[in-house]
Amino acid sequence: MAPIPASPRLPLPRLASPVYCAPMVGGPSTPELAAAVRRAGGLGVLAGGYRTAEQMAEQIAGTRALADGPVGVNLLVPQAAGESSLAEETAVAAYREVLEPEAQRLGVDVGAPRWGDDDDWAAKVDRLVEDPVEVVSFTFGVPPRQVVDALHEVGTCALVTVTDRGEADAAVAGGADALVVQGCEAGGHRGTHGVAVTPNRLDHIALLELLADLDVPLIAAGGVTTAGDTRRALDLGAVAVQAGTAFLLADEAGTPGAYRMGLSDHALTPVMTRAFSGRPARGLRNRFVDAFDPYAPAVYPVVDQLTGPLRARAAREGDLGGVSLWAGSGWRAAREAPAADIVADLTPA
Ligand SMILES: Cc1cc2nc3c(=O)[nH]c(=O)nc-3n(C[C@H](O)[C@H](O)[C@H](O)COP(=O)(O)O)c2cc1C
Repeated sequence: MAPIPASPRLPLPRLASPVYCAPMVGGPSTPELAAAVRRAGGLGVLAGGYRTAEQMAEQIAGTRALADGPVGVNLLVPQAAGESSLAEETAVAAYREVLEPEAQRLGVDVGAPRWGDDDDWAAKVDRLVEDPVEVVSFTFGVPPRQVVDALHEVGTCALVTVTDRGEADAAVAGGADALVVQGCEAGGHRGTHGVAVTPNRLDHIALLELLADLDVPLIAAGGVTTAGDTRRALDLGAVAVQAGTAFLLADEAGTPGAYRMGLSDHALTPVMTRAFSGRPARGLRNRFVDAFDPYAPAVYPVVDQLTGPLRARAAREGDLGGVSLWAGSGWRAAREAPAADIVADLTPA
């Protein structure tokens, strides 16, 4: 087969501050947060995951209404097209049973699996081609080459999140304009491309060193909470950092109340768990993690669909034990402040 001609790499937008505000599903990412980061000279990346194409478009329009300049959007690359294996279905059925008593206690039903759910992928890609933004980042995999080429045609930079050398090589081969290099300190899901993979323990510094020979810009993510952290990443060759946890308590973030409370409880300890979604994610240890982590199968996003109603009810009741408290290694440094002040905290002099 003849090789697909590569579309040329596009340059990243020029910014006054080398700080990207990470896309954060589950509430924290808002147009207000993205716009505030933008006005402070950084780049706000909206979370396109777990939203419809319509909702994603509203977030983009909302951000543009509040700030001029570049906008970023993140999409979660769908896992499996089509059918589930018998092994997955059996594991999911067993996890449903394990969750049942907790669901009864909360007065909700365990969520129904939606096998083959692709998170409205094609419609979101179409929207982003029809009404382009400056940057689209992809997580959990390398998007098909046609998608990258279509974004390039409309002038959009395509970024891919990577956590090891193999993923980085695949992303470069797939036409990525830059890589988001996510270390093990990162809050929320580790962006490993395979669902069943046990994530490595490389932090963003080790990954920057490992990937230094690649001929693409690198954006460092994981545990960045000070200007010194940003300076160190830039000195190691990164062109920018992407911080999430540092913005979770920002005034403009939509971080739900129970989650905010959990982040302010410095007695909690961090943990990696598949309990909430089926993918390894870093958060603070609570009752839900202790009870269910040993049983959670590596089936994403179906496990997320099962636990959704339980988490939603716990959040409404302000029950810190029953919600996901995603947090990176630097979570104790997160502070309540305008996002512009947090961008200033993270920007080297
Ligand atoms: C609450 C939360 C939600 C996240 N959601 C996403 C997401 O939708 N897409 C994505 O690429 N990364 C997501 N991440 C990971 C971030 O992109 C980034 O890698 C991470 O926040 C960096 O580590 P830090 O939290 O220590 O700054 C999320 C992180 C958090 C804390």
